[in-house]
Amino acid sequence: MEKQKEDVVTIKSSNKKNTNKSVKSNKKIETKNIANKDNKVVVITGVTSGMGNEVTKRLMEKGGYTIIGTCRILLSKSINEMASWNEKYTKSDLHLAIGDLTEMAQVRNLFYNIKIKLQKLGFDRIDILYLNAGQMLQKIDMSSENNELQWASNYLANVLLIELLLPLLRNSKDARIILTTCDKALKTKLNWDIINNPKKYSATALYNQSKLAELMFALEFDYRHLDEKNIRTFVVNPGRVRTNLGLRYTTGFQRFLCNLRNLRACSVEEGIASVMYLIEAPNLPSRVVYYKNMCPKMPSNYALDLCNREELYKSSFRILNLPLESPQDLEE
Ligand SMILES: NC(=O)c1ccc[n+]([C@@H]2O[C@H](COP(=O)([O-])OP(=O)(O)OC[C@H]3O[C@@H](n4cnc5c(N)ncnc54)[C@H](OP(=O)(O)O)[C@@H]3O)[C@@H](O)[C@H]2O)c1
Repeated sequence: MEKQKEDVVTIKSSNKKNTNKSVKSNKKIETKNIANKDNKVVVITGVTSGMGNEVTKRLMEKGGYTIIGTCRILLSKSINEMASWNEKYTKSDLHLAIGDLTEMAQVRNLFYNIKIKLQKLGFDRIDILYLNAGQMLQKIDMSSENNELQWASNYLANVLLIELLLPLLRNSKDARIILTTCDKALKTKLNWDIINNPKKYSATALYNQSKLAELMFALEFDYRHLDEKNIRTFVVNPGRVRTNLGLRYTTGFQRFLCNLRNLRACSVEEGIASVMYLIEAPNLPSRVVYYKNMCPKMPSNYALDLCNREELYKSSFRILNLPLESPQDLEE
């Protein structure tokens, strides 16, 4: 097996000068390597900006959390910001792990690093897995593994992380997996022609497909793991939130539209309300997966359809070379 590269960084505060320069990602910047064993163990993807960043900060402020935050590259800006949180909020601790979620090889490496880091901190479980990272692109582009970038980072990477981290989630008494979707995903249907031939379609179409797939996968995962009462799956629709989504690598009219959209969007603080609720609420109604404005909502009939979900679930496992679990699946 290919040797895994260790890439988790425990951050300290000595990088205050050179903001916004990337640092060598496998550099060890060790300081805080202890954690309170009573802490809730949280993994959050995409902590460098927007809602992932805000939720991380909020959990640091509250205390009682050991957080592994993931980012695609390590910028000294992120290190400085998060190092200052580690210094200021001593009742939680934050560690960074690096991986570009468009490449499944990197996602597997990220999983390995999360696991090793948790082991070093003395944890064999994950209580909260907040799969927040996502991107909205202007143009269709393919990864080196030939997956469309948004489909890969917004959907495939999440499926892979959930499946790889499942043993750690199973060790928690109350594990919660949280994904995100958007309004448009509820008004669309999965179209395998779009997913298989992305170059024929718009980047927006692929974004919406990825967000619908997140919702449908969460519903199917919840259904398939009903007997595991200690693992709950949720999908949050935050509505329109004023973040960097859609603005990275976007120029011209598209950028103008994104900025216009942001004018009517809610603040990041408002946008994370449902996620914070799902992380903190001691008791949540069972079998409710989809949330908006901190309330359970009905997903679309298309997303609820068992056949549609099963097709997506099995296809995703095939794409990711993951073994299907149930005896029914194995018969096929
Ligand atoms: N904002 C909204 O109105 C809205 C509405 C519905 C759903 N959502 C969903 O909410 C989630 C968070 O979005 P946001 O609005 O907070 O956007 P954001 O400010 O752009 O933050 C996205 C985060 O994901 C990370 N990310 C993107 N692509 C990645 C990749 N390939 N590998 C690793 N990390 C990657 C980004 O890292 P970098 O800093 O390196 O780019 C960033 O940390 C997304 O899944 C989005 O689809 C947002």
